[in-house]
Amino acid sequence: MQLKRTVTCGQLTGENVNQEVILNGWIATNRDHGGVIFLDLRDRYGKTQVTFNPDLDPEMAANAKRLGMEDVIAVKGIVQMRPDGNINSKMVTGEIEVIVSELEVLNEAQPLPFLVSDRESGNEELRLEYRYLELRTKELQQFMALRSRTYQSARRLLNEEGFMEFETPVLMKSTPEGARDYLVPSRIHKGKFYALPQSPQTYKQLLMIAGYDKYFQIVKCFRDEDLRADRQPEFTQIDIEMSFVDQDDVMGLATRITRGIFKDVLDYELPETFPTMSYQAALETYGSDKPDLRFDLPLVEFAPFAEKTEFGVFTNNLAEGGRVKALVLKNAADKYSRKIIDGLTEWLKTYYGLKGLAFCKIDQGKFSAGISKFFPEELQAEITAKLGLEHNDILFFVSDTEARTLQALGALRLELAKRENLIPKGLVKPLFVLDFPLLDWDEDSKRYIAMHHPFTSPNPEDVGLMDTDPGHVRARAYDLVINGYEVAGGSIRIHTRDMQSRMFELIGMDEEEANARFGFLLKAFKYGAPPHGGIAFGFDRLIMILGGTDNIRDVIAFPKTTSAASLMDEAPSTVDDDQLKDLHIKLIE
Ligand code: AMO
Ligand code: AMP
Repeated sequence: MQLKRTVTCGQLTGENVNQEVILNGWIATNRDHGGVIFLDLRDRYGKTQVTFNPDLDPEMAANAKRLGMEDVIAVKGIVQMRPDGNINSKMVTGEIEVIVSELEVLNEAQPLPFLVSDRESGNEELRLEYRYLELRTKELQQFMALRSRTYQSARRLLNEEGFMEFETPVLMKSTPEGARDYLVPSRIHKGKFYALPQSPQTYKQLLMIAGYDKYFQIVKCFRDEDLRADRQPEFTQIDIEMSFVDQDDVMGLATRITRGIFKDVLDYELPETFPTMSYQAALETYGSDKPDLRFDLPLVEFAPFAEKTEFGVFTNNLAEGGRVKALVLKNAADKYSRKIIDGLTEWLKTYYGLKGLAFCKIDQGKFSAGISKFFPEELQAEITAKLGLEHNDILFFVSDTEARTLQALGALRLELAKRENLIPKGLVKPLFVLDFPLLDWDEDSKRYIAMHHPFTSPNPEDVGLMDTDPGHVRARAYDLVINGYEVAGGSIRIHTRDMQSRMFELIGMDEEEANARFGFLLKAFKYGAPPHGGIAFGFDRLIMILGGTDNIRDVIAFPKTTSAASLMDEAPSTVDDDQLKDLHIKLIE
C-alpha cells in the first residue's frame, strides 16, 4: 500500500482547504457528471466526496469511472471548497471535496448481496449471512459505537466506585441453574464434561469469601434456552458483587451505574433515585413483573362489580377463586370493531390460554355492545361513577385463574398501548421491582424451584414461613426494569451453610445431591463467608434501550438466530469422526 491515510473520511472541513491529504476507504457512491467522476468515500468516521477531473488526468478519471460500490481505494489530493450550489450543510465534510491527484485501488468488491446504504434492501437472513457487510451500515455502526462507549463508561464508573475487575473460568462445573447448560466434553477425563457458565454466580460469591469485597466483570454467559427478541444463547452481563451490604446498597450502586451510563452515553438525566414497586403490586397493576411505566393504563380490579352482574363466566370464576380484571381504554371505542376485537380475542386464546375476551363500550352514558346486557342499569351507573367512564370509552375484561388473568391483561395492556401510540419516544422509565417470592411452584415436577437462583436469601421477616408456607416467603431479590425490559437482576445471598442447606432442601435437593453439585460452595461457607449480595446487568438489553431498538441482534456484532445458529460461519456444525473419538463420544442416530 503506497498511500496510507493522513485523515479519515469524517473530518475534513473548510478549515482544511488547500491541504494535501490522503484518504482510505470504501466507495459508497460513484457518479459521473459529464465526465467528472464524484466518489463518496466512506469509513466508519463519515464520508468525503473525492473528485476526478478528466481535464487534469483523463486516464485516472476513466479508471475511477469503472470503480464499483464497496471497492477499497486510497486517494491523494487537495482539499477544495465545493462550488456554492453543491454545499451539503448536513454533513461535516459537506463544504469540501478532495480533487484527486493519485489513485490506488486496494481491493475490488464483487457485486453486493444487498446495499450497504440501505439496510432494508436485504432480508435479515441474508444480512446475517453477510454480517460483515451489514456491520458497515450506518445503523449498526451507531449501535456498535454505542456499545463501545457503554463498556468504557461502565468500567470507568465501577473503577471510580472502587470495584476490582476479574475474569472467571469459562470452562466450569455443570451446576444447572434456570436454563440448560452448554456442555463441553473433556478429552482427558473420559465421560466428563465442563459447562459454559450461565453466569459467574458461584465464582463471584467465592471471591467475596476470598475477601475481594467489590467485584465486577463484563462477561459472556451461555444459556441453552428458548430464544426471543430480547434473548440470545450467549449474551453479556455487567456482573457485580459486594460484601457487607444490604439490598439498598446494591440498588444504590446499580442506580448510580445506570444513571452514569445514561449520562455518559446519551447525556440523558435519570432521576437520582429510581421508584420501587413490589412484585405483587407490579402484577396486580400492570400484569407483569417488568412493567413498562412509560404509559399508565393500569389493570382495574373488577371483582366487586363482576359479582353483581348476571354474567356466568365472571360469577363462576369468582366462586372458584379466580379473578376478574379490566382495562379501560379512553375515548377509543369507535376504533374497536367486532373484527378487531375478535382478532385480539384469538391472539389471547392462542398465546395466553384464555377462554375469551369480553368487552363493553360506553355510548352516551350507557353500556353498549359486548356483554353490556349483563349489567343492570344501577350497576352501570355505579361503575361509570367509580371508574370515571365517559362516552366512547371501551372496557376489556378478562376472567380466569389469577395467573392467567394478570398475564393476559398485562399482554393486552402492552398491545393496546402500541396500537394507540401511548408510548412516548425517547422517554426512559426505570423501576426496581422488589419482594419477589423466594420460590416458585413447578407444576411439572411438583416441587418448588428457586425463583431467582438457589443462593438468594429469604427476607429475614419471612424465615419462619420457610417450614409452614414456603410459597409465601419473600426473597431479598430485586430487578431493575427499564421501559418494560428486565435490565438487571440480583439479590442478597445466603452466606451460611445452614441456611444454604435449608434452601436446597426446600427445592427438593437432598444433601447428597447438594454436595455433589455445590459441595465446593457449601465447604467455602465454613471458612468465614461475609454477608454479600450483588446484581447483574443484561448488557445487551441495556444497549437495546440506549439505542432504541427492540431487536437484541442489532446490538451484538455477531449474533445468533432464534434457533441459536450463526448464518455467517454456520455454527453449530458437524465435526470429524476423529474429533469425536478423541472425546469418547459416539453419536446416536
Ligand atoms: P439473571 O439470570 O437475572 O441473573 O440475569 C441477569 C440479567 O441478564 C440478562 N439476561 C439475558 N440477556 C440476553 N439474553 C439472555 N438469554 C439473557 N438471560 C438473562 C437480563 C437479566 O436481568 N447471577 C444472576 C445475577 C445475580 O444474582 O447477581 C443472574 O445471572 O437482563
Ligand atoms: P359467551 O357467553 O361464551 O358467548 O361469551 C361472551 C363473551 O365473553 C365473549 O366475548 C367471550 O369472548 C367472553 N368471554 C368468555 N370467557 C371469558 C373469560 N374467561 N374472560 C373474559 N371474557 C370471556
